Amino acid sequence: MARHLITSALPYINGVKHLGNLVGSMLPADVYARFMRARGHEVLAICATDEHGTPAELAAMEAGQSVREYCDEQHLIQKDLGERFGLSWDHFGRTSRQQNHDMTNHFADKLAENGYLEERTIEQIYSPSEERFLPDRYVTGTCPHCDYDRARGDQCENCGRLLEPTQLINPRSTVTGATDLEVRQSTSVFLLQSALADEVRAWIEANDHWPTLPRSIALKWLDEGLHDRDITRNLSWGIPVNRPGLENKVWYVWFDAPIGYIGATREWADVPKEEWADGETERDWRSWWYDSPDVTYTEFMGKDNVAFHAVSFPITQIGSREPWHKVDLLKAFNWLTYYGGKFSTSQGLGVFMDDALELLPADYWRWYLIANAPESDDTAFTWPLFQQAINGDLVGKLGNFVNRTLSLTRKQFGEQVPTGGTPGAMEAELAAGVTAKAEEIAAHFERTEFRKATRAIRELWSLGDAYLEAREPWRLVKADTEPGGTQSGRDAAAMVLRTAINLIPVMAEVAAPVIPTAAATALAAVGQQPSGWPTVDLTALPEGHPFEVPPLLFRRIEDDEIEAWTARFGGSGG
Ligand code: 2FM
Ligand code: ZN
Repeated sequence: MARHLITSALPYINGVKHLGNLVGSMLPADVYARFMRARGHEVLAICATDEHGTPAELAAMEAGQSVREYCDEQHLIQKDLGERFGLSWDHFGRTSRQQNHDMTNHFADKLAENGYLEERTIEQIYSPSEERFLPDRYVTGTCPHCDYDRARGDQCENCGRLLEPTQLINPRSTVTGATDLEVRQSTSVFLLQSALADEVRAWIEANDHWPTLPRSIALKWLDEGLHDRDITRNLSWGIPVNRPGLENKVWYVWFDAPIGYIGATREWADVPKEEWADGETERDWRSWWYDSPDVTYTEFMGKDNVAFHAVSFPITQIGSREPWHKVDLLKAFNWLTYYGGKFSTSQGLGVFMDDALELLPADYWRWYLIANAPESDDTAFTWPLFQQAINGDLVGKLGNFVNRTLSLTRKQFGEQVPTGGTPGAMEAELAAGVTAKAEEIAAHFERTEFRKATRAIRELWSLGDAYLEAREPWRLVKADTEPGGTQSGRDAAAMVLRTAINLIPVMAEVAAPVIPTAAATALAAVGQQPSGWPTVDLTALPEGHPFEVPPLLFRRIEDDEIEAWTARFGGSGG
């Protein structure tokens, strides 16, 4: 048994996440956590809402709420949606909690002690009418490169170029529209990343087991030269900088957010004992994070997050000169697009987590998303592909096998695992094939190769189908003797259906990390509970063991629904 610490990129607090966000971090982290638990490992799966930064403040303003109120509300919405999507976090915390304030200030203190922080006076935009310095995003103006007149102080949305607010032509306050902006001197705290660049590079180069995507992004970032970075911002919402004279500033959101993984783990440990799961006796957050060589730490994220996780956060950890556990395996995803374009809240384009659950249960989405995870390339969500995955795999393979096997058995032999008959070469071959497939699936999950894992699950399900087609128990039951054998047709049919019933727990358990609810229903039908990764024994459920025919595990998605959803959410033409 090993110890696995698993985190998924912390979703920004502002707004319900779309399917692209979900498949880029939270969902694969959950599948991996479930798989590792099924393998008998000790798992700690941590997530939280990322609550600081200008987007939170701006969203709250737009909603007419205080930032605190807004975040309280949105946190609960995201937590509830995550749970309804079956995300089995051990803790879903908040970067705004005291634990994260403490951790962030701790890291800042350590970095300062070790000489990696420096106060520098720089020019920043001051708004006299608002009596404050404006953070980059609070300044809007004309882009000096492309003339776009609503470029933000950090980046031009139109041409994509990174900007300094002082470069904008005709700058104005994003919030009040004030144009009497001035450039004034203000003191910021810089993290001396350049002093740690060689160390972080050596560490990344030693991590040669990382997948290509994160490795290449991280090395490219380093090749472009690591600059010292202002890690303070002129905001009132955030973690106040604990340095004299800088009390009006907060730490930059990308400084405190990854530390939030540790903060949320401390929240987990601080949860009152009455709320712990059965059998839990100890919650030692340090044993996961600090001087913890027995832990394997895996992070899940979209590709835009890689530099922060592969370079910035490790720099914070290394610069503390304390033995914090750095990421061991970093799994990054490309984009899931909506018909090749961006999911967009403002344009009402694409499917968001709340919409999705309104249409269909979580397992449908989980399956589609994991089977089509944007692992090696950007991948487009389209309604017809979704329909195909559900009707083809879930309804056509798993659902159909379970229902067909159990209904036929009930009809011919009643609601117990049938008695009689002796397995032969075909059953031995089936067991060997299924064992090999189950091992292959496990190997893919181990390596966080989700598309390959789902492909192999589909293949395992097909072995069941092929077996029934080859054995034809519906014909056997009426035959005098088994073709090419000596036992009676009825005995042979009993044995075939017994074997097929015994396949159900295997088919369900290998897919349970992806479709936990349906897997549990299939298991319950044959009187089993989810119990971990399956050992393939096609005689485990004995003769006479009772079962029930469950309601259909999945329903078909009809063409008219696809049409309606395409129209509602904006499809290729919308
Ligand atoms: O890109 C994002 O959605 C960020 N909120 C991810 C933060 S991950 C971690 F650093 F907190
Ligand atoms: Zn521009």
